[in-house]
Amino acid sequence: MTSLDFALIGHPESWRAAADVLAFLRGPELTPLPDDEVRDILPWIPPRTVCHVDAGSPIAGATARGLYIDSFIPPDRLEAANLRENIARVRAAAASAIHSGAKIVSLGGFSSILIEGNFDQLPERRDTVFTTGNTLTVAFIVQGIRKMCALEGRNLRNETLLIVGATGDVGSGCARCLAPLVKRVLICARNVERLRRLAAELQADGVQVEVATDVEQFSAEAGIVICAASMASPALLLGGLAPHAIVCDAGYPKNLSPGADMPGARVFFGGLGQITGGLRFAPDLRGILNRHPFPNVVHGCLLEGIALALEGRFEPFSQGRGSITPERVAEIESIAARHGIYLAPLYNAQGPVEAGRESGRLACSRRGVSPGGGSCQQQG
Ligand SMILES: NC(=O)c1ccc[n+]([C@@H]2O[C@H](COP(=O)([O-])OP(=O)(O)OC[C@H]3O[C@@H](n4cnc5c(N)ncnc54)[C@H](OP(=O)(O)O)[C@@H]3O)[C@@H](O)[C@H]2O)c1
Repeated sequence: MTSLDFALIGHPESWRAAADVLAFLRGPELTPLPDDEVRDILPWIPPRTVCHVDAGSPIAGATARGLYIDSFIPPDRLEAANLRENIARVRAAAASAIHSGAKIVSLGGFSSILIEGNFDQLPERRDTVFTTGNTLTVAFIVQGIRKMCALEGRNLRNETLLIVGATGDVGSGCARCLAPLVKRVLICARNVERLRRLAAELQADGVQVEVATDVEQFSAEAGIVICAASMASPALLLGGLAPHAIVCDAGYPKNLSPGADMPGARVFFGGLGQITGGLRFAPDLRGILNRHPFPNVVHGCLLEGIALALEGRFEPFSQGRGSITPERVAEIESIAARHGIYLAPLYNAQGPVEAGRESGRLACSRRGVSPGGGSCQQQG
C-alpha cells in the first residue's frame, strides 16, 4: 500500500458528466456509449479510483499526492428512496480511500449529506481522517456574495438575505457568517422546528430573522439569495424574485431549475475555489472531472481536504451538521490562502460573470459555457 496525502470522494453531477468519465475510462479506441446505455450501465459500476491527483502550493512550496474516487451514484438516484444503496456506495468509496492509505479524505457533494455528517457511519480506520469540506465551502460562498455586492455597488448592510436550505450544514454556516452583516435574514427549509431553532440562535445575537417553509413567501423581499438546499435535482424556481437580486446557487447538483424565470437577477455558482498551484490528474481528466470555464477550479468541499493536506493538518476539520462558525471559516480561509487557494472567478450557466462595460452592471458573457443548471438574464 502506497501512502497518500488525500483522497477526494465525488459523484457525477449530471448524466453528461457521467458519460464523459465513462468514455474516458473505456479509452479512445472504443466509441463512446450512447446515452441510454450509460443510464443502464452506471448503476452497476462500483465505486472506484478514477485518477491520481497531485496538488502544489506555490507559496509554501508544499506538494500533496492524492486520488479521486467516484462513488458513481447515478444522477437520478440521489433521492431519499435510494438512501441505503447510496450510503453503501459512500462506504465503499470511503473503504477504498482508507485502503489506499489516504491521510485525509474529503466527502464531496452528497457523500457527507447521505451519512448526515456522521462519520461513525464510515468504515473503521486508524490513520485516515474524514472532512465534509463544508467550512471552506461556506468561506467561498460568503466571499462570492461579498465580491458580487462589491461589483454591483451594493452595501450588505442594506440588504435582506434569504437562505434556502438554511438549517443545513452549509446554509447554517452561511447564516452565522452573514447575519451580523445584513439588515434582515429570511431562512427557508422544509422542517419548521429546525428553522425555529436556528432563528432563535440568530435572534439571541440580535439578528432580525423570519422563517418560512415556502420560499415563494420570501422571494420578492430578498436582495441576496443563497441556495444551499440538498435537492436531488435542480428544481428550485424562486418565483417572484426581486429585480436585480443577487443569487448564489451553491447546490451540487445545482438547486436552481434551468427554467427558473428571474428577470434581472445576477446569478452565480457559489462555493468554488481555485488552486493557483494547479492540479495534475493522471490519467489527464482535466475538464472532464472539473467542468468549469476556468482552470484549476474545484468545489470547496474537495479543496478543503487538499488545503489541509498541503498544510500537513490531517484532522477532521469539518464534521457533524450545523457546527460551522465564523471563527472556523476564518481559520480554513487562511489555511487555504497559505497554499494559493482562493475564491474562483464567478460564473454561471451562461459563462463568466463580469462587470458590463456600458451599464456598469453585471452581465453574463457566453465565453466558455459550462454545462449544468442555473439561469442568468443577459444584460444589454
Ligand atoms: N459548492 C460546493 O462546493 C458544495 C460543497 C458542499 C456541499 N454543497 C452542496 O450544498 C448543498 C447543501 O449541503 P449540506 O451539506 O448543507 O446539506 P444538509 O446539511 O443536508 O442540509 C440541506 C438543507 O437543505 C434543506 N432542504 C432539503 N431539501 C429541500 C427542499 N426541497 N426545499 C428547501 N429546503 C430543502 C434541508 O432542510 P429540510 O430537510 O428541513 O428541508 C437543510 O436545511 C447540497 O446541494 C450540497 O451538495 C456544495
